Amino acid sequence: MKKIDMRVLGIESSCDETAAAVVENGRVIQSSVIASQVDLHAQFGGVYPELASREHVKAINATVKEALQQAHMGFGDLDGIAVTRGPGLAGSLVVGVNLAKGLALSTDLPIVGVNHLEGHLYSAWLYQAGSKPSPEPKLPLLALLVSGGHTELVLMRDHLQYEVLGGTSDDAAGEAFDKVARLLELGYPGGPSIQKAAMQGNSRAFNFPVARLSEPWSFSFSGLKTAVLRTVEEFKSAHKTVPTADIAASFQAAVVRALFEKTIAAAREFKAREIIVAGGVSANKALREAFRSQTEFRVHIPHISLCTDNAAMIAAAGYRHFIADETSNLDFDVQANWSLAETA
Ligand code: KG4
Ligand code: ZN
Repeated sequence: MKKIDMRVLGIESSCDETAAAVVENGRVIQSSVIASQVDLHAQFGGVYPELASREHVKAINATVKEALQQAHMGFGDLDGIAVTRGPGLAGSLVVGVNLAKGLALSTDLPIVGVNHLEGHLYSAWLYQAGSKPSPEPKLPLLALLVSGGHTELVLMRDHLQYEVLGGTSDDAAGEAFDKVARLLELGYPGGPSIQKAAMQGNSRAFNFPVARLSEPWSFSFSGLKTAVLRTVEEFKSAHKTVPTADIAASFQAAVVRALFEKTIAAAREFKAREIIVAGGVSANKALREAFRSQTEFRVHIPHISLCTDNAAMIAAAGYRHFIADETSNLDFDVQANWSLAETA
């Protein structure tokens, strides 16, 4: 009989966070440890790939050890290992994948390579051990996946089934936050710094346009970014102080409006029962409030600590593969470009 009670060790190293976690039954977080490199990369205004992989090498052993310690477990208490296989920086992914393979080989535990994006989706199933269980998302559901590299509307009719309805034709939402933050000299990462500046600003000060696209479920943020750039330049060339807070607030409102409206429309169109909002940008307070204020759909938005990259979400997605009898052979390679559509 298939095993459904499982404790899975998750390992994540796709970008600038080295993370490990132990999750029970795809939902209950026994531990989640993240060694962040954000401060290191901030001086470059973005992730510096060569530096990132070296930092993963330095941090990964201690991070896994810490995750097991915090969960009060040894390898003998585990039932499987899930690791991010892609998408992400190849040199960073390989660090997590090689460690996971080594551990699987020495412990005889099954291993599965997980798509980082499905990890973000499955973060909606997680809750902390000892706290009240969060309501379990009900399928079919519509997911808005908004991270630094992706902005996608995904229809999940069943577990591990991802129908990508549309994506971004240029910048991802998180990327737009990061680029506009740079324009406004607000620092890296851009999402949190724009959110902070926006709190002091008027979101109606500027009416920034969001492109209307012919493809119904796609997004485009480059026009919005250019509009912000033009506004900043106008103030600068007139030797006036750039109203940073007002621009940040108006930009954030435009992004939130675009994401919110399309997600609700898609959920209606495809008759989803519920909505998931996940990925780094789902930590954004204005976006969370927009979704919380509507009453038509139950919306699952992970706890803020689970919106940005972590390994608990990788363990949660890995669990779904394991109970579907899907494991990886030890010779699998990283996939730096790996879409959800190819994973399903
Ligand atoms: O999911 P994530 O941690 O990494 C990727 O898989 O890309 O997402 C990182 C992105 C960054 O672009 C960051 O600026 C954005 O998420 N982000 C936010 C907020 N926190 C992080 N964007 C808007 N508001 C936030 N509070
Ligand atoms: Zn991510």
